Amino acid sequence: MIHGNHDVLIIGGGVAGLVLALEIADRRRVTLLRPASDDQGASRWAQGGIAAVLSPGDDVDAHVADTQVAGDGLCDEAAVRFTVEQGPAAIERLLALGVPFTPDPSPDADYPYHLTREGGHGARRIIHAADATGLAVMETLKTHVAQHPAIEIRDDLTAIGLIGDVDGVCRGARCLDSQGRLHELLARDTALATGGASGLYRHTTSPLPASGEGMLMGAELGAELMNLEFQQFHPTCLYDPEGSPFLISEAVRGEGGQLLNLHGERFMPALDPRAELAPRDIVARAIDAEMQRTGSDHVLLDIRHLGEAAIRHHFPTIHAHCAGRGLDITREPIPVVPAAHYSCGGLTTDLAGATTVPHLYAIGEVACTGLHGANRMASNSLLECLVFARSCATALAEAAAAPSSAALRPLGAGSEPVDERVLAELRDALRRVMSARIAIVRRDAGLSIAAEQLVELQRELAPLVATGTPSVALAGLWQALRLARLTVASARSRRESRGLHYNPDCPDHAQGTPRPSRVYLADLE
Ligand code: SIN
Repeated sequence: MIHGNHDVLIIGGGVAGLVLALEIADRRRVTLLRPASDDQGASRWAQGGIAAVLSPGDDVDAHVADTQVAGDGLCDEAAVRFTVEQGPAAIERLLALGVPFTPDPSPDADYPYHLTREGGHGARRIIHAADATGLAVMETLKTHVAQHPAIEIRDDLTAIGLIGDVDGVCRGARCLDSQGRLHELLARDTALATGGASGLYRHTTSPLPASGEGMLMGAELGAELMNLEFQQFHPTCLYDPEGSPFLISEAVRGEGGQLLNLHGERFMPALDPRAELAPRDIVARAIDAEMQRTGSDHVLLDIRHLGEAAIRHHFPTIHAHCAGRGLDITREPIPVVPAAHYSCGGLTTDLAGATTVPHLYAIGEVACTGLHGANRMASNSLLECLVFARSCATALAEAAAAPSSAALRPLGAGSEPVDERVLAELRDALRRVMSARIAIVRRDAGLSIAAEQLVELQRELAPLVATGTPSVALAGLWQALRLARLTVASARSRRESRGLHYNPDCPDHAQGTPRPSRVYLADLE
């Protein structure tokens, strides 16, 4: 089924997609693809908050400098400055929409809302809604989006690929409905807001992470991907082998939480003067090393000294979740372990979210704007979603339509049934390779093995892709596998350790100006 005549097609309804929809809808018609699973995406689970220069005692240069230090020399300074400068206006907009940020009632507060601290930040600059900021922002945005007459929400469709024309212009998306029927939505402009690629790993901080599907959809049209090797592992996911993944916000460390090994000893102060508030790459690596040294499968995060009232006030979600799992965090330290959390790499974009493919935009975690460099600083991600969704809307309001004469590239589709169990096994194998070979520490030998194993998995899947009936599971796995290969290729090409990419075979920074890594799907062929 071909549906022509869409204007702005947005794929993904987390914070980035919802903000873009709202910001552009007064000027252009929007079709928002938002399957129900988007309610469980990364935005919803973002606990900590949004970093912005809000307190009169803070300043733009300080936020820029902290971001660059966390990014270990690889941030694009223009992208950092742009994001930080636009931050306060983006927060004002959320306040105007009614997001219930936590107020600061103290009489000597210099800003009306409570600002917390997280790793890498030299100041209190994180505005939050208790410990469920992403959820609060999402709920407010969803209410406004649902009421806007120019936004059509399609929760019945899941995108499985993009449509390009013979001139290399993006023309919309190819989708499946819940009956497995194919729909082609032709659009003047298409924006991907599909999330990152943490789902390539076995242990993640959220239950339903994306696996880079959107990144690969863009790459299939020839778009450039940047910095894929920088996969962030959040230092503190709840260690709960029987439960579903659950993040223990960095704000717990920001408010004084201390990391202990299983002997009850603090280990961060000896490693870094910033101790528990060092940037995430450093803390996650330290926990990984401590676990190896002591032969344990987790460490502890102790917040008891804050007192029960403060713990319940600041961290009601974490307190309630842990209580539901039989753990009273006011009386016992929290068992934690690092888990895949955020992809710093993605589709290369400019400051308006434009990818290298005409009429294709990318915002949020699917994009690589240059803001995060080699390691994202805490709470800069929701900030990036807001700022780039808004700048993308401004660009889209002014964008000229592509000439409509070019023919569409033909799309293939098989019709043989595909056994979903085979797909689940292959996905599991993919995650095992990624978690074993290209996680917190990656070595040359492990990367070579990963490259071979992923080629083998791709060989197994290719015949199913050629002949099988298209499905969300099949398309997603095909995209995830090739993205995994490109991630390994990016890691192999970086002959240094920097930020989240730590390779003991080349443990130092390379000489000279640090460079982003850039890859294309054509590199695999
Ligand atoms: C957290 O609360 O630690 C997660 C927020 C983020 O990743 O920035």
